[in-house]
Amino acid sequence: CGIVGYTGFQDAYNIVINGLRRLEYRGYDSAGIVLENVNDKLSVEKTKGKVDDLVDISEQLKGIAKTGMGHTRWATHGVPSDRNSHPHLSNNGKIAIIHNGIIENYDTIKTMLKEKGFTFKSETDTEVLVNLIQYFMDINPETEFPTAVRYALNEVYGAYAITVMHEDYPGVLVVGRLGSPLAIGIGEKEYFIASDASPFVEFTKEAIYLEEGHMATISLEKGVDIRTINDNSKIEAEIQELKLSLEQIEKGGYEHFMLKEIFEQPKSVHDTMRGRLIVDEGVIKMAGIWDHVEKFKNANRIIIIACGTSWHAGLIGEYLIEEYARIPVEVEYASEFRYRNPIITDKDVVIAISQSGETADTMAALKLAKEKGAFIYGICNVVDSSIARITDAGSYTHAGPEIGVASTKAFTAQLTILSLIALKLGNHNGNLGNAEFMRLISELDAIPKKIEEVLNTTHELTQNIAKDFISATNFLYLGRGYNYPAALEGALKLKEISYIHAEGYPAAEMKHGPIALIDENMPIVIIAPKKGHYDKIVSNVQEIKARKGKIIAVVNKGDTQVSAMADYVIEIPETSECFSPIVASVPLQLLAYYIAVYRGANVDQPRNLAKSVTVE
Ligand code: G6P
Repeated sequence: CGIVGYTGFQDAYNIVINGLRRLEYRGYDSAGIVLENVNDKLSVEKTKGKVDDLVDISEQLKGIAKTGMGHTRWATHGVPSDRNSHPHLSNNGKIAIIHNGIIENYDTIKTMLKEKGFTFKSETDTEVLVNLIQYFMDINPETEFPTAVRYALNEVYGAYAITVMHEDYPGVLVVGRLGSPLAIGIGEKEYFIASDASPFVEFTKEAIYLEEGHMATISLEKGVDIRTINDNSKIEAEIQELKLSLEQIEKGGYEHFMLKEIFEQPKSVHDTMRGRLIVDEGVIKMAGIWDHVEKFKNANRIIIIACGTSWHAGLIGEYLIEEYARIPVEVEYASEFRYRNPIITDKDVVIAISQSGETADTMAALKLAKEKGAFIYGICNVVDSSIARITDAGSYTHAGPEIGVASTKAFTAQLTILSLIALKLGNHNGNLGNAEFMRLISELDAIPKKIEEVLNTTHELTQNIAKDFISATNFLYLGRGYNYPAALEGALKLKEISYIHAEGYPAAEMKHGPIALIDENMPIVIIAPKKGHYDKIVSNVQEIKARKGKIIAVVNKGDTQVSAMADYVIEIPETSECFSPIVASVPLQLLAYYIAVYRGANVDQPRNLAKSVTVE
């Protein structure tokens, strides 16, 4: 989501709308704006869709205000709709809020406010927060607006960045932050607010990055007053000189979107599990699955349909669902499935996996399965995308917008969802006992931390390894069990962005063909974590070693056997075999990335490839 706010001497409408366009790369399914109109009343316009759709309905607001704010939203709570779009107004219509993030205890507060007579128009957690602010001003009319915001923020927990305006406080913007970024741009007689500096770099190079747990009251009259949310202590503002260009800011300081997205994975995997995996209670909450659990339980089989990277996630999904839920699974390329007159009945459950939710082949395959009466479940990243709309039920991956053409964080988010589904179904239908279920969900919960660790320990290492393979013409990627599809995905990453030919193979199949290719010029990436067929892999590595192949081994920390034979060793932390592809994929993404960078390739937009393939 993106936030933009302004108070100063220019037309607030233009600043906010242009700022929202700058933030659109973060993804959107709705947009909205609120301005102080001539009578200091608040004028709100909002709509489902893009910033252009907002402009269509709000042009009458041009030129009316010098203070205002706007929002582009990527839905987490509530489906995208006009009603659920931001800004949200309090019951008395005087307070407007925009919000990024999640208020986790919104339900309890909503119940309390309802008892006090508050009503709610939307399903969002945001509307609860704005009414809580009104509530604090109602119960004590002496309470100033910024104080009421502070009281309200002390009642909520979650992750947020907010901006709030009050009709009776013209020219004042109150902002707060816990978890989501927020920058305040300091101009000459004007202030800007934004999720990152991109909406205002053209106007000022000076900014304050609000720290965690801080809030600020901003007005022309009093400047920027920063306080701690918990005890109202005054904080000296630290003004920073912005050195980044607009493009660099959008990439969060990373050289490419792909690298940024690789580094976002601890967060994106966590976001995908947020509100779903509740380890303390020992439950997985997934409404989409739970509402249709009998469909899954009684399914003849599950057919997973996808393309590209999503298809690789599907293969791992097959291993997961068959192992834990014991339901037969088939995985098909959408493009093959749709044209081969497949047998589908109303006893089949079809799971479509698609980052974009727009892939034409996947869409057509789904339509075919739907016509034949199958139950269709979607795993999409883009909220309200075409595939998400035609499915009977589904789970969003919530990885946030993925811009790099080569999929990274969407893939690990898909694996996370598939893990949740397999464990949930397995536990429900009795194949996965409570003790093992508990052990696995704790393991899954620890994955974001392990990804973080891998990023720290392998970032430099993969760069150094990459330097030795700039001139390679071929690569082999090998793995067994769950890591066989991870090998396919590793190879796909490399070929997509570096244009080096790469093949993924099940390690044991190597002897039926690819072994003929191995000589001292052939780099071979082996994924060999301790759990799962390790001994078998050791013998595969010996076969390669005997033929002088160059071995890059991805192993667990402390590994000795495979490491002793490898030319390059990449260590990752141990985890259950079923989750190891999530962790093992990260250094392979980095390796592909750096090889491509050193070869001078256009990493974010590789030749001939498109992010979303809407033609067959
Ligand atoms: C394109 C992209 C791939 C992606 C595939 C499937 O080929 O370049 O990165 O894996 O489409 O896309 P989807 O959006 O359906 O996951």
